[in-house]
Amino acid sequence: MYIKLFCDMKIIITGAKGLVGSAISKRLETNIDTELLKIGRDNCDLENKTETDKVFNSFSPDIVIHCAGKVFGIGGNMANQYDSWIKNTIINMNVIEASRESKVKHLISLGTGCVYPSEIVEGGYSETQLWDGNVDNSEYGYAHSKRHMLAGLQSLERSSDFKFTYIVSCNLFGPNDSFNEDTGHVIPSLISKFEKKISGENSKVSLWGNGSAVRDFLSSIEMARALEFFVREGPHGVVNVCSGVKRSIKDVIYAISDISGVSEEDFYWDHSKPNGQNQRYYKNKKLRDIGFDIQDTFKKDLETTYKWYLQNKKGARR
Ligand SMILES: NC(=O)c1ccc[n+]([C@@H]2O[C@H](COP(=O)([O-])OP(=O)(O)OC[C@H]3O[C@@H](n4cnc5c(N)ncnc54)[C@H](OP(=O)(O)O)[C@@H]3O)[C@@H](O)[C@H]2O)c1
Repeated sequence: MYIKLFCDMKIIITGAKGLVGSAISKRLETNIDTELLKIGRDNCDLENKTETDKVFNSFSPDIVIHCAGKVFGIGGNMANQYDSWIKNTIINMNVIEASRESKVKHLISLGTGCVYPSEIVEGGYSETQLWDGNVDNSEYGYAHSKRHMLAGLQSLERSSDFKFTYIVSCNLFGPNDSFNEDTGHVIPSLISKFEKKISGENSKVSLWGNGSAVRDFLSSIEMARALEFFVREGPHGVVNVCSGVKRSIKDVIYAISDISGVSEEDFYWDHSKPNGQNQRYYKNKKLRDIGFDIQDTFKKDLETTYKWYLQNKKGARR
């Protein structure tokens, strides 16, 4: 029989309607009997400091899982460098400051692999290399807002007994993602294009760049499992959360082609579109050493995401 763990900690989840926020909300609601406040735009605009302070102070959380942000894929980050920098910087500052004021015991924040230097590191980046060089120009604004958040968390930790976990996340995908083909992430954008081919809305599937870029992809379902682990285990500073498996964009395309039934004759490569950084992958040794056994559930969770999209196409975010 399944037993829910009782936890007397109060937890805030920001970005609760987004890809990661919805996955961790669902997981905590199922597994932990606790008081949970899910923040979406409808109950708190995190760009507004007064509103953010008010919500945090009146709920008085012990743990905050910060998943909110202005999140784009490569095309969106390139086209909206300033928007991404300013909005994410303001949101992150408001969340950190409200957490400090309301005496949060553990702030779990979502960072991104873009914070690592653009220079490729053989074997993948490890946590100690985060400040070793400049970020890649393609996601300059976004990456700097995420480095700035880490600098804020580390400064606060140095000045008080504040504790945090800063998740350096690889590329994510899953239900409740944004399926915008121009500004969204590669997997939801491909899913939308492949589905349009299947439904006859498009005659061909256009693919960006040449498909050679290598990434580490993790589902939001597996990320939520990792986040729950940190809720239970407590703060651990900077931690890479990734599958540890390298996949090229071409590998992803063939996997979606298999799932959707769209064949290779129906693709064409648009070489005018960006590839992004050639390679970006990470070591997950620290995560494993802490005791979390991350799984590579790529194919299974990609199928789940494709099915979710078929069922929720109309209401899906774009
Ligand atoms: N997805 C990835 O591949 C990936 C990879 C690495 C790191 N991350 C990081 O993981 C975190 C979660 O990303 P995600 O993919 O789950 O993004 P997402 O699906 O776009 O979710 C972000 C959520 O934040 C909300 N939000 C934005 N501005 C807000 C505001 N001013 N007030 C209140 N809510 C606001 C968004 O609402 P609206 O939809 O209304 O804007 C959305 O529900 C982010 O920090 C992201 O940088 C994501």
